[in-house]
Amino acid sequence: MLITRHAEAEAVLSDARYVPPPVRQDGAEGTLAWLRARVSRFSSGETHARRRRELAGPLSGLDPARLRSAARALTGRRGGDWRGVPTAVLAEALGVEDSGAVPAAAAGYLSGRESPEADAAAAELLKQAGIPVITLLLQAHAATEGLIENALERAATGPSRDDIDELLRETLRWDPPLTATRRLDTRTGDEVVIDLVAANRDPRPCDPAGSHLTFGHGLRPCPAPEHALALAAGVLEGLLT
Ligand code: HEM
Repeated sequence: MLITRHAEAEAVLSDARYVPPPVRQDGAEGTLAWLRARVSRFSSGETHARRRRELAGPLSGLDPARLRSAARALTGRRGGDWRGVPTAVLAEALGVEDSGAVPAAAAGYLSGRESPEADAAAAELLKQAGIPVITLLLQAHAATEGLIENALERAATGPSRDDIDELLRETLRWDPPLTATRRLDTRTGDEVVIDLVAANRDPRPCDPAGSHLTFGHGLRPCPAPEHALALAAGVLEGLLT
């Protein structure tokens, strides 16, 4: 089933009978599959609640204002070569020395696509950090770079942009970096795809401000929207101002 209406998307995302499609639980220790079987993102019920609580510690040590200025400064030091900046800044703030393995592990993290490179990257990260910190880095990587990419495209094609926070607000609503999320209906076994682009565009007369679902909703929304925005804003400031 494909969901495109905002109200239906919110209802599914708030209903515990819809769970993330289960991932394989039999991956060899230290592989990407093994990691995916241990993160909050792909678990449900009590296990999800417990793993989600474990993210609060590392997240509470992160100050969005500092992430923003660090992202701006590093973008400047790298002469505008911004790829990898959000992940490097986040890794440093989380006490991870070498974030080089993040892109390779992140490539298979959401999709489940396994490869020797992704397994080696997962093993490397596990040497440096615990699962909650790795979860934050892998969740953050592609989504934050995608937001920056979409905002840069908007800035290039739209009217001139001096207000970076407004540029990001518009990008989140109209060009979300994650375009869909999936759930399994535990009653029927059917897969439900929530089209976030369509749901964000669904006109709602009672909500002229146009709240978006880009950071999810309900039982398991993104726990770090301020951090994501701070990293993206810092990079954009380094590039556009
Ligand atoms: C623009 C950037 C980002 C976007 C659009 C985004 C969006 C999302 C969405 C939609 C979900 C929920 C997925 C679902 O319901 O199926 C999610 C989950 C999550 N995000 Fe983000 N995210 C972003 C950046 C970040 C950053 C920077 C971090 C960490 C610092 C982060 C950490 C997480 C974690 C840990 C989860 C899993 C939560 C759980 O299992 O309950 N995200 N994100």
